[in-house]
Amino acid sequence: MIIAIDGPAASGKSTTAKGVSQILDIPYLDTGAMYRAITYFVLENKIDIEDASVLKQVLDDIKIRFESENGKNEIYLKGKKVTSLIRTTAVTSHVSRISAVKDIRISMVKLQRSIGEENGCVMEGRDIGTVVFPHADFKFFLIADIEVRAKRRLKDLAELGETKSLEILMEEIEKRDKMDSSRDYSPLAKADNAIEIDTGVLSIDEQIEIIIKRVTNK
Ligand code: CDP
Repeated sequence: MIIAIDGPAASGKSTTAKGVSQILDIPYLDTGAMYRAITYFVLENKIDIEDASVLKQVLDDIKIRFESENGKNEIYLKGKKVTSLIRTTAVTSHVSRISAVKDIRISMVKLQRSIGEENGCVMEGRDIGTVVFPHADFKFFLIADIEVRAKRRLKDLAELGETKSLEILMEEIEKRDKMDSSRDYSPLAKADNAIEIDTGVLSIDEQIEIIIKRVTNK
């Protein structure tokens, strides 16, 4: 079974998708973490993504894998644990530009499909219901007011030891959503048959329950 959960930045996708995957006991995949990992690698190694042959080499060599360790989802890039490193402001401010590159998307989508097809998946991202799995069994699109989303992200950043004003964060999130929605190749979009859920007015348990009810028909 494939459950696609899409939506803009900080709309509650990760928390919801993780909860749903635990209850249904099916794997969970955070596709945003994959684009963040590539972005981290590109920045760290000063890769010129405009150079097609260099980019091809990077994509051929890159190894991204997820491991569940003590109940926490860890992401490894070429054997290095990058779970926290991919959440920094530096990565966040470049990820939309890098994830818009067609060859990067082709490579990531291929990987996402193979992971999803293996054992089924709750997969979250921007283009899961539209491009990665257009025939997903269930599709959800999460939204929330910009201020609600920025407040959530402020909390996440505080845990990483970063401080930022709410206003700046709201601007950054809006800018990223705009770039993600307006790119040519697989933009952030709600699939026609996706069920929209406004997480701004729900608790985490409530948003998880809405999905579980739909999926199990109970
Ligand atoms: O967690 P947050 O909402 O900040 O974003 P994320 O899910 O970690 O995704 C980070 C970025 O990756 C997005 O802003 C998109 O640019 C890109 N992304 C994408 O292009 N396609 C996906 N399926 C998932 C993420």
